[in-house]
Amino acid sequence: MFFEPLLLGFPDYHLQGKNLARLLDIEYVEAELHQFPDGESKIRLPVDIPSTIVICRSLDSPNNKLIELIFTVKELRQKGCERIILVAPYLCYMRQDKAFEPGEVVSQRWVGKLLSSLVDEVITVDPHLHRVKKLEDIINVKRAVTLSAAPLIGNLISLQVSNPLIIGPDEESKQWIEQINELHDFDYIVGEKTRLGDKDVNVVLPPSEMEDRDVVLVDDMASTGKTLINTAQQLVETGVENLYCAITHPLFIGSAYEELLATGVKAVWSTDSVTHPSNCISLASILSEAINL
Ligand code: R5P
Repeated sequence: MFFEPLLLGFPDYHLQGKNLARLLDIEYVEAELHQFPDGESKIRLPVDIPSTIVICRSLDSPNNKLIELIFTVKELRQKGCERIILVAPYLCYMRQDKAFEPGEVVSQRWVGKLLSSLVDEVITVDPHLHRVKKLEDIINVKRAVTLSAAPLIGNLISLQVSNPLIIGPDEESKQWIEQINELHDFDYIVGEKTRLGDKDVNVVLPPSEMEDRDVVLVDDMASTGKTLINTAQQLVETGVENLYCAITHPLFIGSAYEELLATGVKAVWSTDSVTHPSNCISLASILSEAINL
């Protein structure tokens, strides 16, 4: 056992992990992963384990990653690791925060309890909290830290466009816009969204003068992308030419990103919480400030 902390990264989050280790001035080591033909994961960890480890991996496409996290943490503990800090800029299963239909499992609660049983600290960015307001109400660890990408997104918008009108597609997006506007004073409107199915949404926007405005759709995440696509299509049909999207978590399942670009959106800006071609905002600075080694 040695005492210099390490950052343990994973191949799918390599650049972000390396950047974070550099800012923390600690060594970066990477877990080796192998997927067996039957879908099981083989994980190889460093042989020498320090007493403090920062695990840096977003939990998008989560099912395999959760199992790999469980095995990794158990192994680290067995080797004597005393303090495990999980940096997961995207936290999975946050949207299933109630049983929408009788019998549905409240996944948010159980992911929270799982992480609480594994690690000592959790640091994440813009978790999708709606009915449950605070991360600490889901994850019971020594330190559960919720960071906001809103200041970084707001700064990017102010650098990229000159006359922004921010549009939140639904009531839940209002919280992100309000956080952006703690530093800026952008005009904004918020729509009303009805979700008819996983890939079927209808967004109704309030009337607003958009001529000569740089219209920026802001949301915490794009998953199927339908929320942004539906809203963008309406705006383009009404003649909006300068249309942009700014999001924290670019999940963009399947062809969602290409479909969004095909609406006429000029640019999509995202943080590197999830590795994606739209990434242009690094979270490393706010994550490193939140880690006390
Ligand atoms: C929900 O309220 C979220 O803020 C997003 O609007 C939503 O998760 C986006 O999902 P999708 O891209 O599948 O429409």
